[in-house]
Amino acid sequence: MNVSFLIRSTTPGDAPAFHAVMMAAGMDPRSSWTRTTVAQVEWSLVNHGGFVAISGERVVGCVGHRPDGPATLTLNKLAVLPEARGSGVARALVAAVEEVARERHFERVLLAVSQFNLSVIGFYEKLGYAVNGAATYAFASPLSPPPVVMTKQIDAR
Ligand SMILES: CC(C)(COP(=O)(O)OP(=O)(O)OC[C@H]1O[C@@H](n2cnc3c(N)ncnc32)[C@H](O)[C@@H]1OP(=O)(O)O)[C@@H](O)C(=O)NCCC(=O)NCCS
Repeated sequence: MNVSFLIRSTTPGDAPAFHAVMMAAGMDPRSSWTRTTVAQVEWSLVNHGGFVAISGERVVGCVGHRPDGPATLTLNKLAVLPEARGSGVARALVAAVEEVARERHFERVLLAVSQFNLSVIGFYEKLGYAVNGAATYAFASPLSPPPVVMTKQIDAR
């Protein structure tokens, strides 16, 4: 099914709906993702920010971003409700983060893929990301196995 949607920047009040989309993603229970709390999401939205995808009145997708130094913008918490997948929602959310990176003159977007979610690597490759063995994810959970790091260069317009 093709879902129509719009993308907007988050406000702190989006935290419960953002968290609900994350929890509906079906992530492996061993992943630190599944232990994320609403309070942690709210902290991210207050201190860093993100985007939600809205279809009708409903939040159907989410993504966060957070700088790591002057050159790198990290992308995190990307999720789309199962029933809204396959309509380009995630592609649009990732593009919104890349636009933030471009506007703020970051050189690259960096993200971490959990060892329990390796099947998503092909999705990011499709969007121009590549596994980068030389890069590290600064905000990785110390309780989880080291993630696979992927990066994409952001060219100035
Ligand atoms: C991965 C996820 C975000 C994709 O959301 P989506 O809205 O269905 O993705 P899109 O519709 O924007 O897909 C964009 C393209 O990627 C492709 N794609 C989607 N999932 C893919 C996958 N797992 N592997 C390879 N390609 C994939 C789509 O077919 C589409 O290709 P096309 O434009 O050529 O048709 C969604 O499946 C999800 O929420 N998964 C669980 C959470 C998760 O793994 N998040 C990532 C954390 S690192």
